[in-house]
Amino acid sequence: MEVRQLLALFLCVLPLSASQRPNIVFIVADDLGWNDVGFRNPDMKTPNIDKLATEGIIFENAYVQPLCTPSRTAFMSGMYPFHAGTQHATILHAQPVCVPLNYTFLPQELKRLGYATHMIGKWHLGFCKWECTPTYRGFDTFFGYYNGAEDYFNHSVGGYLDYRDNELPARNYSGEYSAFTFAQRAVDIIHRHNVSQPLFMYLPYQNVHGPIEVPKKYEDMYPNVYNDGRRRYNGMVSALDEAVGNVTKALKDRGLFENTLILFTTDNGGLIDLYGNNWPLRGGKRTIWEGGTRGTSFMYGAGLQKIKTTYDGMIHAVDWKPTLVSAAGGSTETTIDGMSHWDSVRYGLPSSRTEFIYNIDDFEVPIEGHAGIRVGDYKLILGYPGRSDGWAKPKNTTKADATEKTIYIKGDAPVHLFNIREDPTEHNDLAQQMPDMVAKLRARFEEYKKTMVPANYPKQDHAADPRKYGNVWTPGWC
Ligand SMILES: *[C@@H]1O[C@H](CO)[C@@H](O)[C@H](O)[C@H]1NC(C)=O
Ligand SMILES: *[C@@H]1O[C@H](CO)[C@@H](O)[C@H](O)[C@H]1NC(C)=O
Ligand SMILES: *[C@@H]1O[C@H](CO)[C@@H](O)[C@H](O)[C@H]1NC(C)=O
Ligand SMILES: *[C@@H]1O[C@H](CO)[C@@H](O)[C@H](O)[C@H]1NC(C)=O
Ligand SMILES: *[C@@H]1O[C@H](CO)[C@@H](O)[C@H](O)[C@H]1NC(C)=O
Ligand SMILES: *[C@@H]1O[C@H](CO)[C@@H](O)[C@H](O)[C@H]1NC(C)=O
Repeated sequence: MEVRQLLALFLCVLPLSASQRPNIVFIVADDLGWNDVGFRNPDMKTPNIDKLATEGIIFENAYVQPLCTPSRTAFMSGMYPFHAGTQHATILHAQPVCVPLNYTFLPQELKRLGYATHMIGKWHLGFCKWECTPTYRGFDTFFGYYNGAEDYFNHSVGGYLDYRDNELPARNYSGEYSAFTFAQRAVDIIHRHNVSQPLFMYLPYQNVHGPIEVPKKYEDMYPNVYNDGRRRYNGMVSALDEAVGNVTKALKDRGLFENTLILFTTDNGGLIDLYGNNWPLRGGKRTIWEGGTRGTSFMYGAGLQKIKTTYDGMIHAVDWKPTLVSAAGGSTETTIDGMSHWDSVRYGLPSSRTEFIYNIDDFEVPIEGHAGIRVGDYKLILGYPGRSDGWAKPKNTTKADATEKTIYIKGDAPVHLFNIREDPTEHNDLAQQMPDMVAKLRARFEEYKKTMVPANYPKQDHAADPRKYGNVWTPGWC
């Protein structure tokens, strides 16, 4: 044994050597609802996801932001979107904006610990200049797209390609469904990986965000779903599941699986208008109801002591960055909003988080509320919580969606208060009954609000026009 190792033992801080650090695979499903996985809803066919979830730890109280860009801001930076200016909505194609460059991203932290870092999938954290893009923000390699949504087969947004292999346009994947390409790229990286380094792979899949597209074979797995849109959507979930299965198989084939930690999470609740489902939770994507913010999430693998099947502790999206850095043997930053739950999760201990902000959106139009705070069991919503509201079961009663109504309730009450532990489905508004609790949470909210950075939501800029860049969405215009 080397002197350095002996010394470390003596000090009881034996640092992990590069080869002891776990490989980390961080999978994000886009817009996947609470009730859209087999381990919650037996109508869904997701055997690979179910196996990892039920053999790992399912998070019952892992919160995300109501939308893509804000949640991804939190995943990468460990900061609340209201501290990064990304709290209002998603970044639009031609908006000259990205997550502030002075925030250190998760792959940058992991690189310092010796990791090889790869990203495959959707970015959506801004691309107006190269410094904003994945290969400049900590990833050794990138394959995927910069915007928030595009066609699954031709990979174009607004008529122009958004698909890249590292920094070059990937023009020759037209016709290939993105889940296949992404899974294959992940498999290739796993097979080529030099095992003397730990591996970090960030895999934010396109599935199951709109447009609702999937090869027919997957749709056909659901002959008993009458509604056309929901049947296709379910097929998209099953294609995602197969992609997850292919990646885990590659890890096994390469002998890496035993030392791999997998984190799976959605970025927000399911979008009810587009067939996502969060039953029995209230609301969905875009809202700060539980259906928009309580995410489907689980962890599997290296380092976890399986005490229980589920973990009830409170976790917020900002916490994943420091949690994964701790799992990698790194020390966590003290200047970010997130806190590590690594020890709590792996030993089944209570969460050290007791409160969080659902959102603080100061941008004026449209006012989808988006101000909310949780303190202990209580949740305060200020203003309009967002649409759609209500409790929706999976669509199945009509063939076409148009006739199936989604309920929209305009924000009629300026303040809502719920006890989420007793009433997770938000049926029983306590605001009138408990004015003191409303005041307490409002005061706490105001404290957070003092630290808010104004939403950075500029007008779209013609300088982004892809025609100037060979008909491909390309950085270089801000
Ligand atoms: C990043 O810059 C913004 C202003 O542009 C500032 O508000 C914020 O505190 C800075 N954050 C860090 C981590 O330096
Ligand atoms: C890509 O497919 C969409 C349909 O989802 C279509 O509207 C668009 O014109 C196609 N774009 C290209 C460049 O082929
Ligand atoms: C696209 O081109 C790249 C680079 O030549 C190649 O590695 C890749 O296999 C091609 N993909 C397809 C789907 O043809
Ligand atoms: C998974 O791998 C199998 C076998 O290589 C392949 O046929 C299938 O298309 C892959 N599925 C996805 C979603 O990548
Ligand atoms: C893997 O990395 C190690 C350490 O950097 C190096 O010595 C070795 O040659 C690499 N192996 C391959 C196959 O590239
Ligand atoms: C959808 O409804 C039909 C009856 O119209 C029923 O047979 C089927 O089981 C339902 N499917 C699901 C997934 O609930």
